[in-house]
Amino acid sequence: MTDAPLQTSLPPVLTIDGPSGSGKGTISRHVAQRLGWHYLDSGALYRAVGISASWNDIDLSDASALVRCTFDTVIDFREDDGGEPRVIVNGVDATDELRTETAGAAASAIAAIPEVRAALKDAQRAYRRPPGLVADGRDMGTVIFPDAAIKVFLTASAEERAERRHKQLSDKGVSVTLPGLLREILARDARDANRAVAPLRPADDAVRIDTTGLSIETVVERVLALMQ
Ligand code: DC
Repeated sequence: MTDAPLQTSLPPVLTIDGPSGSGKGTISRHVAQRLGWHYLDSGALYRAVGISASWNDIDLSDASALVRCTFDTVIDFREDDGGEPRVIVNGVDATDELRTETAGAAASAIAAIPEVRAALKDAQRAYRRPPGLVADGRDMGTVIFPDAAIKVFLTASAEERAERRHKQLSDKGVSVTLPGLLREILARDARDANRAVAPLRPADDAVRIDTTGLSIETVVERVLALMQ
């Protein structure tokens, strides 16, 4: 008698990984909306731990305090009355603070600590609920959901990513220089790609899409076409 193939009743997952500024967040949100699936912004979890650490004056070099902080941080994704996504950290609306460059840099630093990544693993997997999940991050296809039905890896040139971020910040009235942003993006890429645990890299079975020069709609359609 041969073994029957393993049946899995877990809801389907579409993973969208890539470096900062590759368009992951925007594309993932649109795709989740079109599919009527849940959406996980895993970067927001790392950012939330980062700002929770700064609220509690925890030094970014104190790994054991950061691990305790990861377990103690309560993160809640909600929508406001207008349907806009909000992130509540320890009961405080931290949506705007989460998007700052400082929060991104803190997230990137703590994301290099293996115990922090391990502490967030189950929390991320818990977002896998019917009818399906679109998971956006760095290691969604490689570590968190290696059995995902479809894996996408988005890229874009560092210059275009810096320009997108510059526009986003200028629209919000934040003044930053383009060369400064480009330097930060390259530094963050290097840190995320070179860390020992779950470095940023495409899963072997990921479909790569270079979004340089492509509109959001075009990329969303390309990702949805993979689901056919
Ligand atoms: O996607 P983002 O810019 O919000 O992520 C912030 C940082 O968190 C990023 O520099 C690396 C880290 N991160 C990670 O290591 N693994 C993830 N799945 C998501 C984010």
